Parts: sequence; structure tokens; C-alpha cells
Amino acid sequence: MLNFELKNPTKIIFGKGEIAKISKEIIHNAKILMIFGGGSIKNNGVYDQVKDALKDHDLLEFGGVPANPEYEVLLEALHIIKENNITYLLAVGGGSVIDGVKFLSAAASYDGEPWEILKKPVRTLEGEGMPFGTILTLPATGSEMNSGYVISRRETKEKLSSGGPGLFPLFSVLDPEVVRSIPKKQIANGIADAYTHVLEQYMTAPSSADLQERIAESILISLQETAPKVMTEEFDYDAAGNFMWCCTMALNGLIQKGVITDWAVHAMGHELTAYFGIDHARTLAVIAPSHYRYNFETKKEKLAQYAERVWNITEGSTEEKAEMAIKKLEDFFHSLEIKTKLSDYTNDFQNTAERVEKAFIERNWVGLGENKNLTPQDAYKILEMSY
Ligand code: NZQ
Ligand code: ZN
Repeated sequence: MLNFELKNPTKIIFGKGEIAKISKEIIHNAKILMIFGGGSIKNNGVYDQVKDALKDHDLLEFGGVPANPEYEVLLEALHIIKENNITYLLAVGGGSVIDGVKFLSAAASYDGEPWEILKKPVRTLEGEGMPFGTILTLPATGSEMNSGYVISRRETKEKLSSGGPGLFPLFSVLDPEVVRSIPKKQIANGIADAYTHVLEQYMTAPSSADLQERIAESILISLQETAPKVMTEEFDYDAAGNFMWCCTMALNGLIQKGVITDWAVHAMGHELTAYFGIDHARTLAVIAPSHYRYNFETKKEKLAQYAERVWNITEGSTEEKAEMAIKKLEDFFHSLEIKTKLSDYTNDFQNTAERVEKAFIERNWVGLGENKNLTPQDAYKILEMSY
């Protein structure tokens, strides 16, 4: 097991009706800016619950953060924060809103062009970011219990990530009731995103970190079992709760400790969102199978372990099991009605491999993957396989 440090200061408040508790989590003299997305919270009652809980607090609001949070929109929010001497941010939404708030938390005290925080990137250290809490409305990213974020800039077709230990939410409310109003397409995205988060931290090489491996496999199995229950029309509170907690646990830092991690699928996937606007989770479903096929030799033992322990495939050689593993992964995405080829999403895919290779060269992104040896040329080949 590799050396590691673990500190996750986010308080989780889980369960039905728990949004009401936020009044006790936020200090009374705080000047709060509540930030939300395109309006789903006004239709499902979450907005009213927040307003009610904070009726005795000083509260301003900013709505309209789009999916794949947009830099230009966030600059408008930053202006409001500075004009009104805001001291506390409250994210009410999915990963996009939470990520947007993390960026604002970092940008509020940053001298200089805020885009530098993403471009360089600049890490936000403990005590540096503006304090914030979150109310999660869409299980998927794990942003509610981690310190990373991803921001898009449509003008330049960039989607870049940053973070740092100063950007953990102080608290996050996880009320599974919010799942009731989520469209099935977004639920499928949430499952696929969380599932791939586990794979990014697991599908490398067998390790001696037995507990992390078993926890990762448990999250994968739980997501597989929960998926059909949350994809049916009838709302199932316990299934929603399991789905929500799996998503949080998939990316709160725990399973990555003491092991090597990959994250190349996300790096390539972000480019597809930047070029074509494809939903984040769907970009991962396009890249992951090709990435695992391209890196078959280095990953085959772990793929075989995944086949055995997660899908109960016990027959065949290591190679045969590993091949079945990739097939099972594709089948799982398809069971969520998520397509796994780039050409399923755009007709304009022909020069994507060149674009990704060029972008990675320009950003000097060499050494992707768990062995830090994937080059922009490797990314080219993986992208070409995903057409
Ligand atoms: O904007 P509103 O009206 O709220 O609608 C949203 C949005 O259209 C809707 N929605 C959210 N909660 C709902 C709901 N609709 C009905 N009922 C509810 N309860 O869902 C749509 C998608 O929301 P969004 O926040 O964009 O989705 P998600 O949570 O999947 O976040 C995606 C973003 O997170 C980034 C992605 O790159 C992408 O930009 N990620 C962040 C990570 C992190 N911080 O750790 C890691 C991830 O890998 C990912 O990269
Ligand atoms: Zn993701």
C-alpha cells in the first residue's frame, strides 16, 4: 500500500427532511449568496425548503448556472459577491452548481484574472476559500464531498479542472427525496459517472490495498444493483438513498488512498464535452471501453479481477476474463440507455483524435494514466478507437 494522508472535513447530513437543518450549520451573521441552476429547484420544492430554513438569515440569490458551469456566468456571480460583501456561499444543485460555487469560493479572494485559477491551475489551500455548504439535488459527481471542480469556457472550447484542500464544502445535505424529480436521463448519467469514478481509481493494476479494492468493488456492485431500481418509474426511497450514497462514496477520496489512479478517461472525456457539449457521463462511456482495450496489457489483470469479483465470471484465462470485463462494462452502460461510440452523439467526429492530441500537446499534458506514460499520441489512438 502506498503512503497516504486522509482528511475530509465535509459534514454529511443525510436523509429525508434534513434540508431544514442548514439554519444551524450557517453562522447567523453570515451574508449568504445562494446559487442554483436553471430552475429545477423551483419546481421540486427544494427552493422553498431552503428559503424557509434560512428565513432568519441575510440571504441573496443567484440562479442560472448552466450544466457544465460556464465561466462567463460565474463571473456575474463573482461580481455580486464582491458588490454585496458576501461571506458565505450556498450551492443548491448538482455537480455543475457545486463546482461553480467552488470556483467562486476560490476566485473571491484571488488577485488577478480568475481564469488563471483553472489555466495554471492554482490550488486553493486550507483556509483560503470562502466558506460554503451544499444541498445536493443530483447524485453523480461526488463534488458534495470532495475539493475538486471543473469549469467550462465556451468561448475558447476549454473545460478545465482545479481544486485544493481549501475547497471542501463545510456541510452537504443529501436528501434522497430530491431524486423523485430527476429525469431518467440524468439518473443514468449519475450512475455512469459514479461508476466510472470508481473505475478511474480501480482499473489499474492489482494492489495490496485490500480494503480499498473491496470497497471499490462494493460500490460497483451496489450501483449495478441499484440502477434498475432507480431507473423505473416508481420512486423507491431506499434505492434513491443507496444511489446517492454510492455516488458520494465513489469520489470522496477514500478509495484512492494508498493506490495508483488513472483519470485519463476523464481527461479525454472533458474534451468531448468542450467540443460537442456531450453530457459528462456519456463522454466517459465513449472513452472508457477504448481506453481499456488500448491499455489491455497493463490493465488485464485488474480487468480480470473486476470480471471475477464484480460480475462473477470465473471461467477462462486472464485475457478472456479481461475481454469479458470490457464487454460487461459496455453492456452496463447500454442497460442505462447510454451509447458508447462517439458517432452515436455527433456526425462531426472525424478529426476529434487530432483535436485532442493537439490540445494535450498545447497544454503540455504528457504522462497521463496510472503509469504516467500515456502521450498525446496515445490519446489520439484511443479517441480513434472510440469513433
Ligand atoms: O439546472 P437545473 O435546472 O437545476 O437542472 C439540472 C441540470 O439541467 C438538472 N437537475 C439537477 N437536480 C435535479 C435536476 N432536475 C430535476 N430534479 C433535480 N433534483 O440536471 C441537469 C444536470 O445537472 P448537472 O449539475 O450539470 O449534472 P451533474 O451533477 O452530472 O454535474 C456535471 C458537472 O460536474 C462535473 C462535470 O464535468 C460536469 O461539469 N464533474 C465534477 C466533478 C467533481 N467536482 O468532483 C467530478 C466529475 O467527474 C465531473 O467532472
Ligand atoms: Zn466524472
